[in-house]
Amino acid sequence: MKLIIDTDPGIDDAMAIAYAAAAPEIDLIGLTTVFGNTHVHQSSRNARFLLHMLGLDAPVAEGAACAIGQDTHAPSEHVHGPEGFGDITDIPEIGANHPKSAAEFLVDMARRHKGELVVCAVGPLTNIAQAMQLDPAFATNIKRLVIMGGAVYCPGNITPHAEANIYHDAKAADVIFAAPPETVLVGLDVTLKTLYETADFDALADQSLDMGGFLRDISRFYLKFYKEVGGLEGCGLHDSTAVIACTHEPMFETVETGLQVVTEGPETGATRPIPSRPPVRVCRDVDGAGVVHLFTERVATLP
Ligand code: RIB
Ligand code: CA
Repeated sequence: MKLIIDTDPGIDDAMAIAYAAAAPEIDLIGLTTVFGNTHVHQSSRNARFLLHMLGLDAPVAEGAACAIGQDTHAPSEHVHGPEGFGDITDIPEIGANHPKSAAEFLVDMARRHKGELVVCAVGPLTNIAQAMQLDPAFATNIKRLVIMGGAVYCPGNITPHAEANIYHDAKAADVIFAAPPETVLVGLDVTLKTLYETADFDALADQSLDMGGFLRDISRFYLKFYKEVGGLEGCGLHDSTAVIACTHEPMFETVETGLQVVTEGPETGATRPIPSRPPVRVCRDVDGAGVVHLFTERVATLP
C-alpha cells in the first residue's frame, strides 16, 4: 500500500514512522510535515532524522507553520518536549526538504498514484485542507484519508471537548468533514485503548537496539506527562494506531456518520456527529492488545 504520513514529530509520530518503515505492506512514499507538537521546521528536521535512522530515502515536504484562519496555539512542549523528541534536543539537520510544499507534494502524488495513495494524517489537518483547496480532484484521487484525531464519543485530551490535532486547526478539520474523501477517523475513542508502557519500551529496545533504543529514550518525557497529568501507566499509541488502521481496518469497529467541528468558543475542536454531512467511518472500538502486539512485533525487527 502506497502511503504518505502527514506528521508533526512528535514522539508518537516517531513511533508511527518507525512502524510504517517496518510494516511489509507499506510503501512509504514520503512524509509531509506540519506544526503542532513542535514548530514545523523542527517537524521537518525530526522527520528527516528519523528517515535517515531508518535508512529510508523518502522525501520530506514541509507544510503549514500555522493554522487556517485562527490563532496558532503554542507547540505542545509540555507533552513532546522543547524540540519534539522529549529530553533529546539538538537533533542534527540531515539532508534537505523536498522543494515543493506539503500541499503541492500531496496533490502531485495523489495524481501520480491515482486511486492507490493512502494519506495518514497524524497532526493538525492544515496541509490536507490546503491540498483539497489546491486541487478539487485531490479528494477523489486519493484512495483513502486516515486521520488520527477527534474525540467523538469520549472526552478530549487538550481540552475536555477536543483532541489535540483537531484543536490545533479546527477550521481545517471542519473544511475536510464538510466534503470528505473516503475517510477513517481514528480518535481518542480507540487510541487510549492502545497504551504502551515503560516495560514495553524496554522490551522493544532490547530487540531493536538503535531504533527501539531511540524510541525508549524519547518516550521517557512523554510517559512522565501521561503519568503525572493523565494518571496513566502508559502513553497512547495514537499515531501508530492510525497507521495500523490503514492496513488492518478489521481490527477496528467503526460507525458511519457525518462530522462537524466546533470552530469557536470554549468547545473549539469538538468533533460532533451530524447526519446532514457526508459520512466518514469513525472508529468506536479496537483490539487494543492486538495493535500493541503488532506494533512491537514489527518495530522489533528494526536494527
Ligand atoms: O491527540 C494526540 C495527537 O496529538 C497525536 O497525533 C500526537 O502526536 C499529537 O499530535
Ligand atoms: Ca502527531
